[in-house]
Amino acid sequence: MPDRHAASRFMLPLAPVSLALAPFLRDAPAGSAPFLRSLRPADRDALHRAGQADDIGRYTSIEWPFTPEAADRLIAVAIADWQAGTAARFAIAEGAAGEIILGTASLLHIFPESSAAEIGYWLGAAGRGRGLAQAAAAALAAWALDDLGLAQVHLLVDLDNDASRAVARRAGFALAGEELWRHPSDPAKDGPVERWALDKAR
Ligand SMILES: CC(C)(COP(=O)(O)OP(=O)(O)OC[C@H]1O[C@@H](n2cnc3c(N)ncnc32)[C@H](O)[C@@H]1OP(=O)(O)O)[C@@H](O)C(=O)NCCC(=O)NCCS
Repeated sequence: MPDRHAASRFMLPLAPVSLALAPFLRDAPAGSAPFLRSLRPADRDALHRAGQADDIGRYTSIEWPFTPEAADRLIAVAIADWQAGTAARFAIAEGAAGEIILGTASLLHIFPESSAAEIGYWLGAAGRGRGLAQAAAAALAAWALDDLGLAQVHLLVDLDNDASRAVARRAGFALAGEELWRHPSDPAKDGPVERWALDKAR
């Protein structure tokens, strides 16, 4: 049977990226450390439940309102982009089988031409305050720079998004400037953002 990842432009990990060893992981109960894993169709309801905080709609390009059907579409895009090697979207999950979804962390817009990619993340209320976005961003950055061989990863942070700015700084990113961000479908959400970058030669 052909490997469904064979068409990928990158060697994407077949095993979950473990966050268990991240030193900044706080309050993780022993034996159930959260980890990153690929999204699958059965995640629809758990993903939909996790993605209901208003600031997720405000600060990310997620389809909003985030209905169960929108969760289905996000999972379908995640699977298609993974197979194309253009983006890698992960669930931040916990529980013995990773059945509890706390949020997502993704490597988006993987451009081999520019050797760069964007990192994005969101957490539902239940996953916040535990250092998980920082752990996920750091793990994705290390994977992109060390394993995929990209030269730079970046984050785009709204000017009033203090929580994400703190995550970016603590994950080792440096402020690289300001630019205009255009939302893929809602021009009302266009606006200035900070670019936070992390280079391979760090
Ligand atoms: C960004 C996000 C993932 C961070 O969640 P988290 O990892 O649990 O982050 P925390 O709640 O631990 O907060 C991170 C830091 O920001 C601080 N912070 C949190 N909310 C804040 C707020 N409203 N104002 C100021 N600081 C805030 C925390 O005190 C913490 O600082 P510390 O590390 O010095 O203790 C979460 O807030 C979220 O999903 N937001 C909506 C989606 C989003 O903005 N995604 C990123 C787009 S760039």
